[in-house]
Amino acid sequence: MSPDRAPLLDRSPRMRAIGTVIENIADTDATVLLRGESGVGKDLVARAIHATSSRRQGPFVKVNCAAIPQGLLESELFGHEKGAFTGAHRRKPGQFEYANKGTLYLDEIAELPLALQAKLLHVLQDFQFARVGGHGLLDVDTRVIAATNRNLEEEMARGEFREDLYYRLNVVEIRVPPLRERREEIPGLAAWFLDKFNAQYGRQKQLSPETMNRLQEHSWSGNVRELENVIRRMVVLTDGEQAFESLVAGGRNGHAAAAPSVPVTSESLREIARRGAREAERQALAEVLERVRWNRAEASRILKVSYKTLLNKITECGLTPPSRRAFQDSIRSLSG
Ligand SMILES: Nc1ncnc2c1ncn2[C@@H]1O[C@H](COP(=O)(O)OP(=O)(O)O)[C@@H](O)[C@H]1O
Ligand SMILES: [Mg+2]
Repeated sequence: MSPDRAPLLDRSPRMRAIGTVIENIADTDATVLLRGESGVGKDLVARAIHATSSRRQGPFVKVNCAAIPQGLLESELFGHEKGAFTGAHRRKPGQFEYANKGTLYLDEIAELPLALQAKLLHVLQDFQFARVGGHGLLDVDTRVIAATNRNLEEEMARGEFREDLYYRLNVVEIRVPPLRERREEIPGLAAWFLDKFNAQYGRQKQLSPETMNRLQEHSWSGNVRELENVIRRMVVLTDGEQAFESLVAGGRNGHAAAAPSVPVTSESLREIARRGAREAERQALAEVLERVRWNRAEASRILKVSYKTLLNKITECGLTPPSRRAFQDSIRSLSG
């Protein structure tokens, strides 16, 4: 592993493959398109690309296209001249200028309005641009990395994302897989976050093997960001592991509160939380199966678990498809 490679991008074969791509494009200015769900580590990969590139001494500038009102995006990216629009009291450079000799990271690129998509395309083709309200052209010396969690193929089919810009951006395309497709990273990541937050909050929390199993099995629809937040809560809260149980329960469908109430004295809080989590899981499972008429493949996609895990969960929760249920009911009524 080269010393430049981000230390946390080498924990699974798929992330190591990404690390290799990063090294291979290190000395090029190739535009990169990062794709993947929210929380998978796209920002981290973008920074690693910059840190490995020959531009690493230059600035790394991030613009989140979803966080800036659309009307202000053009000026944010390209700057404006004094008097370009109401409120433009003086000249202001844009992020393209700040990123000069460095890397400009355009996060959530699919949020860029069509008119700006056109302008960006021209900038990437001509390496020149004008500030808003300006006439002179400025040279661009910036490597562009764009990222999105959207399905750009669908956006293009709907006419909401320009195809020519798509091809211009994805000179190199890197797909960062969701955490559930690289579960082998979970123990290492959990340990890393545990150390980090223990140090940060002055705690000495540990993860029980049981919790580690739960972490390993969880669907992580929020990916590494969700894992990070769960561990932070475990470290910060007094009974952190219980917090995980309720978080998983609440995160699934918010029905944890629907678990039948039992006298509090008969169970420890932890047992209550665990039971609540199981009940919530069962309800979510039943609801989804009902909705997709017991199409298990579809249910596994919706619940973001493998087909095998889904089958196990169905058995664990004692759920049966309606046809068999009707059959069992009729037997019961015959014998009763
Ligand atoms: N491989 C990793 N090692 C350590 N932390 C990670 C890793 N991947 C992601 N993270 C952390 O998870 C959070 C989400 O990552 P981020 O790069 O912002 O995801 P994205 O941009 O895809 O939404 C960040 O706090 C990041 O530091
Ligand atoms: Mg991001």
